[in-house]
Amino acid sequence: MQIARHVLAFCAVIGTLAAATPLLAADAPKAAKANLAADPNAKDLILKGDAKCTGCHDEADEPSGMSTMLELNPGVLAIGKTKHGTTADKRTPTCTDCHGESEKHVKHKGSDKPPKVDRSFRKNTTTPAEARNGACLTCHQGGKRMQWGGSQHASGEVGCNSCHQVHSKKDKVRDKLAQAEVCYTCHKEQRAQVSRPSHHPIPEGKVACSDCHNSHGSTGPKLLVKDSVNQTCYECHMEKRGPFLHNHQPVTEDCSICHNPHGTTAASLLKQRQPLLCQNCHNVNGHRTQFVQQAGGRPAVANSGSVSASMAGGCLNCHTNIHGSNSTTASGTGGRFRQ
Ligand code: HEC
Ligand code: HEC
Ligand code: HEC
Ligand code: HEC
Ligand code: HEC
Ligand code: HEC
Ligand code: HEC
Ligand code: HEC
Ligand code: HEC
Ligand code: HEC
Repeated sequence: MQIARHVLAFCAVIGTLAAATPLLAADAPKAAKANLAADPNAKDLILKGDAKCTGCHDEADEPSGMSTMLELNPGVLAIGKTKHGTTADKRTPTCTDCHGESEKHVKHKGSDKPPKVDRSFRKNTTTPAEARNGACLTCHQGGKRMQWGGSQHASGEVGCNSCHQVHSKKDKVRDKLAQAEVCYTCHKEQRAQVSRPSHHPIPEGKVACSDCHNSHGSTGPKLLVKDSVNQTCYECHMEKRGPFLHNHQPVTEDCSICHNPHGTTAASLLKQRQPLLCQNCHNVNGHRTQFVQQAGGRPAVANSGSVSASMAGGCLNCHTNIHGSNSTTASGTGGRFRQ
């Protein structure tokens, strides 16, 4: 059966090409000249009970399910090197737990294309996302996936395997540096934002999309890991939580009023430059402008007037603690986030 296996391997390669090149698709079955049948003496190779499949499928088979990714997958048997291949762990799956018993596919003999497996995960598969995901969820319900059913990804018919590569030792989406690339295949706008001059250090591998988003579902908006934008930001920027004696209302409301969390052209992830950002809400006509230098170097108010252009450019020069301040000095200015 060795020869049959090699021919199968060849066919699988043709199959892979066919999937990518519609022109070849019609020829693919004809290319399978061998009388294909499972090796009756096959033994389990990597997973308990896999002989049923590995009698035909060997290391030369290359899954094409993730062909949106540039690099080729290693052979199907590479699954033996993942956590799913820990045969000592009784909870691990065998081929049929994911692909289904696929009796007709398995019993197939002859040179033509075998009938489809019960659940196929390849690109352009006709197996609905819900059926594919159901196979994974029999073992992976709960935990981080508690909210999967109501998630935007579930309702958007995104498959577990749209992000995860299970036949590969390296599951890109769980690698901090490589993860974003997986997300960008569908979320192009975020790729553009993250490549702007000011951005969270995602390309640098210091922050990952999954630090802020739970792709498997959440109780907060936009699949955020916490119940609100602010709670999510406080995970790493605790000092912005306060408590402050004087709060700046938009800050306590939603950090993303002023910041785009992915990236911006203005510095500090700001959606707009100052003073425009501030002027969305503040009319600076009538803002006191005549300042005299105090001994300590801080400007003190002397007069009324409108803020001059040069001063306007730097609201933060004076209102240094824009996220909230604890000044207990003369409350007239203490609430102005000046110290
Ligand atoms: C009799 C030989 C044989 C056996 C046994 C066999 N396969 Fe296949 N399988 C093939 C051939 C040939 C192809 C390529 C057909 C094609 O290109 O569509 C294939 C293709 C596949 C594909 C890719 C097609 C798709 O729609 O995703 C999967 C997945 C698959 N087999 C899984 C299995 C599993 C799981 C088992 C065991 C339960 C199994 N096979 C047993 C011969 C076999
Ligand atoms: C944990 C679930 C799971 C198990 C177990 C599993 N597969 Fe797969 N299989 C997948 C997924 C998902 C894909 C799509 C490619 C990927 O994610 O790496 C796939 C792809 C394939 C393909 C290629 C189809 C294509 O063209 O994309 C073949 C062939 C295949 N599996 C055969 C097997 C065999 C044989 C076994 C047992 C040794 C097995 N699978 C075990 C989930 C599984
Ligand atoms: C029969 C049960 C079963 C099925 C079905 C199953 N898994 Fe798993 N999976 C496991 C077990 C057991 C582990 C190891 C858990 C551990 O070590 O904590 C695991 C681990 C994983 C991991 C983490 C691997 C790591 O290196 O830490 C991922 C990701 C995963 N599975 C995804 C999937 C996807 C996607 C599917 C469906 C295509 C799937 N699983 C189907 C049982 C299953
Ligand atoms: C949109 C992309 C995406 C989809 C879709 C997705 N995952 Fe994940 N998954 C991730 C990321 C990112 C991680 C690593 C970070 C984390 O744990 O949150 C991960 C981690 C995991 C892990 C290992 C960590 C753990 O929680 O045990 C398992 C298991 C897993 N996913 C299973 C699944 C299953 C099952 C599905 C389908 C119901 C699925 N994933 C769908 C992106 C995704
Ligand atoms: C296969 C395509 C695909 C991949 C890959 C993917 N997503 Fe999604 N994502 C979707 C779809 C479809 C939706 C729901 C429709 C929408 O709102 O755009 C969605 C929704 C979201 C949302 C919620 C948007 C909202 O308006 O509520 C977030 C956040 C998100 N994805 C993050 C991620 C992250 C992080 C990754 C990578 C770990 C990722 N996605 C990978 C397709 C994908
Ligand atoms: C520092 C936290 C953080 C990181 C890291 C992050 N996001 Fe977000 N993301 C958010 C917040 C907060 C929102 C909601 C507010 C907004 O859209 O400005 C959001 C919104 C989204 C949305 C929905 C956009 C919309 O228009 O509704 C998508 C899609 C998304 N993020 C994908 C990603 C992807 C992909 C990555 C990784 C490249 C990523 N995010 C990294 C915090 C983050
Ligand atoms: C997982 C941790 C983490 C989370 C969660 C997080 N950040 Fe950050 N943030 C960082 C890191 C790391 C930096 C870069 C710090 C540095 O380079 O010194 C940063 C930098 C920033 C900067 C300064 C950027 C610059 O160019 O100076 C802003 C503004 C910011 N974050 C806002 C937010 C907002 C708003 C949220 C919530 C949507 C958030 N962060 C959530 C880790 C995080
Ligand atoms: C009213 C607009 C506004 C809101 C709302 C806002 N910020 Fe900022 N943020 C700014 C401005 C302006 C800067 C630039 C400060 C500078 O250049 O000194 C900044 C800078 C930052 C920085 C980098 C410099 C530093 O102070 O560490 C971080 C981190 C940050 N903001 C986090 C947050 C978080 C977290 C929230 C929500 C709790 C938030 N911001 C809400 C306006 C805002
Ligand atoms: C989304 C609207 C919004 C934006 C943008 C905004 N603020 Fe505010 N700001 C407010 C609100 C609301 C208050 C509370 C007003 C009140 O108590 O009368 C406030 C209060 C203030 C106060 C204290 C006023 C007082 O009477 O104590 C100062 C100073 C201030 N903001 C400066 C700024 C600066 C500087 C920026 C730009 C970096 C800015 N704000 C951006 C909405 C905004
Ligand atoms: C040269 C320093 C300086 C600059 C620049 C400056 N401010 Fe002020 N601002 C102050 C002082 C001092 C007060 C307090 C006045 C008081 O207590 O009566 C103040 C008060 C305010 C108040 C409270 C309401 C009011 O008018 O008394 C707001 C709102 C405000 N500033 C917004 C801004 C914005 C927006 C900018 C940028 C366009 C800005 N400031 C630029 C020093 C400055």
